[in-house]
Amino acid sequence: MNMSYNNRSNEEIVSLLDDYEETINPVENALLMKERVAHYATMEEKFSFVYTTTAAYMRYVFESKNELFENDAIDACVESIAAITSTYLNIFPTIIKFISPKYTTHEHSTNVAFFAAIVANKLRFRDEKSIALIYAALVHDIGKLRIKSEILEKPSSLEEYEFENVKQHSTMGCEILRKNGITSQSVLHGVQFHHERMDGSGYPDQIKGRKIPMIARIIGMCDVFDALTTQRTFRKNYSSFQAMLLMKKEMQDQLDPQLIEIFILLHH
Ligand SMILES: [Fe+2]
Repeated sequence: MNMSYNNRSNEEIVSLLDDYEETINPVENALLMKERVAHYATMEEKFSFVYTTTAAYMRYVFESKNELFENDAIDACVESIAAITSTYLNIFPTIIKFISPKYTTHEHSTNVAFFAAIVANKLRFRDEKSIALIYAALVHDIGKLRIKSEILEKPSSLEEYEFENVKQHSTMGCEILRKNGITSQSVLHGVQFHHERMDGSGYPDQIKGRKIPMIARIIGMCDVFDALTTQRTFRKNYSSFQAMLLMKKEMQDQLDPQLIEIFILLHH
């Protein structure tokens, strides 16, 4: 396994978003992303542009606390992620190298969308299925709009009633998506079931194995990988190598083992 690019460093937490100018309108920038990305020459530049534009738009959505989002902007983000990840099939090391290990909901959502897009390519998903997966991955935690920030940002462990509240975010996410006119069953399933686990230990419905839709199993795996490789208040981040090892050895019953194998291949 190639360990040379497990570089989500603990020491220097620099986010690509740190350079994003506050004066730029995140909605307008997202809507114009597809045309503007053509002005950048290298994979790194294009990735950096699509990543920051998407993460800035998601930051705007989460910070505005407005449940009605600009769906055209989300579509533009999703299409740009699909385009760049299918053009550069070896983009995974670049992503790991550049994305911040700092955990924020908007960067996490963007990271999971990129990882899911790469898995979709590896599984040779047709365009429509791939777009639904990336869309669902980008908005998988949109239900957190309804969870109080004191709970989401609590530095210590959650009380049981607080955790019960957090667990509602998948169902609330679907409600928010429906409010925005999203009717795609694939997208709704991806959001509703992204915390279900193969052994039935997940939530909200404790469904098991292949009853969990594929789209939700992929998002669940990418979600775990990003959670492990970003810093949380209660622990430092794992390297991507350590995270893969932990997922393979200790989470075989919870995550789809075949998907873990496919994800490991991305590291070669
Ligand atoms: Fe979640």
